[in-house]
Amino acid sequence: MYLVKMSIRRFTYFMQFAIIHIMNNPILAPSLLSADFTDLKSSINKINAVDNAFVHIDVMDGSFVPQITFGQLIVQSLRPLTGKIFDVHLMINNPELHFESFAKAGADYITFHYENTVHQHRMIQQIHCLGKKAGISIVPSTPVSVLEEILPFVDMVLVMSVNPGFGGQTFIPESLNKITKLKNTRQERGFRYIISVDGGVNNETLPRVIEAGADVIVSGSSFFSGSLQWNLK
Ligand code: DX5
Ligand code: ZN
Repeated sequence: MYLVKMSIRRFTYFMQFAIIHIMNNPILAPSLLSADFTDLKSSINKINAVDNAFVHIDVMDGSFVPQITFGQLIVQSLRPLTGKIFDVHLMINNPELHFESFAKAGADYITFHYENTVHQHRMIQQIHCLGKKAGISIVPSTPVSVLEEILPFVDMVLVMSVNPGFGGQTFIPESLNKITKLKNTRQERGFRYIISVDGGVNNETLPRVIEAGADVIVSGSSFFSGSLQWNLK
């Protein structure tokens, strides 16, 4: 049964890869940070109702960022509730200590931060050895240029458009330029990473991040409040 579920997720991954790269259709990644914590099952069902969606899971450690949120046991408990891709965003120090346990819990993408790590190339290899997709994230004060040597190896670049740690913050417009730079670099150098944007996406900023070139749109407060209008067809 586990193997069947794994193959379904692999198939889903390839379909979504095609949707992003061939059809040019962005994926919505609702962030569970703004879900109803008393009823995560219903929150997952809201995501299940979106055609092209990832489940964005913000893991915070109270050290790299102020709050503490989800751990591996929560990810594992949610895994049977959906076939959607689990997009795990690690806002934690020493993330490499936890790659294997999040992979076993059911993560599909494992994204760590540039700012609190050194051996990013090795870490990406570690995630790939676990059979998972590797993402790297940058906070608003980090320029895209620092990623130059790592871009050939990553599957996702997650551009934080707010300072990490909390939902419901205001979008930082300078992030748009970063998305476009990543899009142009991908095209010029023939890379395959997907570009995700995380923080402050609402009905006003959504068209701007799509126009800038984001492939994956993370949305917490506006998705779970029901205000986000995701009608891209
Ligand atoms: C912030 C998180 C985001 C956040 C986005 O540290 O990484 O995923 O939940 O929330 P909104 O969409 O409310 O800005
Ligand atoms: Zn996030």
